[in-house]
Amino acid sequence: MEQPKTLLTSLDSWQILQTHYNAIKDRHLRDLFREDPQRGERFSLQTLELYFDYSKHRITEETLRLLVRLAEDRGLAQCRDAMFAGEKINNTERRAVLHTALRAPAGSSILVDGHDVVPDVHAVLDQMQAFAIRLREGKWLGHTGKRIRNVINIGIGGSDLGPVMAFEALKSYTPRDMSFRYVSNIDGTDIAEATQGLDAAETLFIVSSKTFTTLETMTNAHSARSWILEQLGDEQAVAKHFVAVSTNLKEVAQFGIDTANVFAFWDWVGGRYSMDSAIGLSTMIAIGPDRFREMLAGFHQMDEHFRTAPLDQNLPVIMAMLNVWYANFFGANTVAVLPYEQYLHRFPAYLQQLTMESNGKRVTRDGAVVDYATGPIYWGEPGTNGQHSFYQLIHQGTHLIPCDFIAFRRPLNAIGKHHDLLIANILAQGEALAFGKTTDELRQEGVEQSLIPHKTFEGNRPSTTIFADRLTPEVLGKLIALYEHSVFTQGVIWDINPFDQWGVELGKVLANRIIGELDGSGKAVEHDSSTAALIRYYRD
Ligand code: F6P
Repeated sequence: MEQPKTLLTSLDSWQILQTHYNAIKDRHLRDLFREDPQRGERFSLQTLELYFDYSKHRITEETLRLLVRLAEDRGLAQCRDAMFAGEKINNTERRAVLHTALRAPAGSSILVDGHDVVPDVHAVLDQMQAFAIRLREGKWLGHTGKRIRNVINIGIGGSDLGPVMAFEALKSYTPRDMSFRYVSNIDGTDIAEATQGLDAAETLFIVSSKTFTTLETMTNAHSARSWILEQLGDEQAVAKHFVAVSTNLKEVAQFGIDTANVFAFWDWVGGRYSMDSAIGLSTMIAIGPDRFREMLAGFHQMDEHFRTAPLDQNLPVIMAMLNVWYANFFGANTVAVLPYEQYLHRFPAYLQQLTMESNGKRVTRDGAVVDYATGPIYWGEPGTNGQHSFYQLIHQGTHLIPCDFIAFRRPLNAIGKHHDLLIANILAQGEALAFGKTTDELRQEGVEQSLIPHKTFEGNRPSTTIFADRLTPEVLGKLIALYEHSVFTQGVIWDINPFDQWGVELGKVLANRIIGELDGSGKAVEHDSSTAALIRYYRD
């Protein structure tokens, strides 16, 4: 992959953006909309059956042109093509980055080290499909001959957040005579509650772990194994009640899982980019193979859009460059993701790993410390709940928080006036954030002088609104790929590698050292006075 050679902040296009920022930073969205009655249409795109409105951002056409120029100067198109072509753009792990191959249509071809990976992807999809159908049709029986009714996915991080999010998002498409549960935390409460009230004879565990060595997942998997053995009393039961999703067949076999029931994926799929690989096995069982493939088609449509659309009409690029605009020029530290769709209640949590494990880096691909902000903090909750909790700060606090609003024209549960009320709220929030309420307006309303500062909304708070017709598997695929490619684009601008995660390693190493001290199996290690005192307190 061609490396951007010039330091970001010394690029001409960066400095021109800085000058432009100084010129327009105080312009108010009220004025921008007043001056251009077509602004709403001009700064929105309708493509892939999505309505992407970015008109309520503090930008002009010139801003967009300059942001696109920055993306060009950073070699975005070349970097993107390198990713799609299977080049080893994950430089610190010397790996290709090919989550896009997971949704490549059969018959296409993507080479990694001269090997076409597309047939491998489809072979695993077919294996998943056969298994999912047997399970859904009650033909895969447990050790005692009972039908499997409960599926528990054990995984963490990318091996958990994607499956949970997708299950919750697509719950309305799942059979209600089966239960799906997700265990991730090493806190024993998680597995205790997940198995609570279940009949082991009707329960299947999917142990999902790319490495099959992750402490949390392996600890939970062993506890699940003990639970099965305690209830069913026979080692043979393991083969009927456990399957695995992993790249590490050796470790899977050592655990005792029949290797015929292992669903593979590959080192060119990052954990947080894996929910559409075999890691999505629980999703496929829950929504059925056809709908899973519809989801993949949605991902692929967004991949193709990202790969081919001009940069100034490219949804992931626009989304990414707006983040760069706010993070690097306005100094915004966070982005709020606010889905007005209850089924998307885990979407912000999923995006937290996707965005922050990817772009939470302080050195460039070559290891130089950056002198600019990188990945913002992502957070959020579904509307309207958030309105009654943290929106106060977004409206009137001192932080600038760009918001992504997500909504659907048609509800999955049409009850009375609920949906119109929901949509009225999302639209009102975007409007209130952008335009606020002025002192003059308050005076005209006769608001008491002492309350005017409190009731003034300065407005000029930016948001994107993403509208789709209905939450379907296909739309979910498009939305996830939108954020994936936005994350990638930001990584290119900041010249960081979004595909490694060294920052999570130190904590793991230190935890392993401390475990031995807590249970007395290891020798005492020297700690700082704070950690040493906490260990003493725990042991006492
Ligand atoms: O600790 C971080 C991490 O490596 C994530 O990137 C990954 O998604 C998660 O752990 C789980 O890893 P595995 O699938 O190998 O168990």
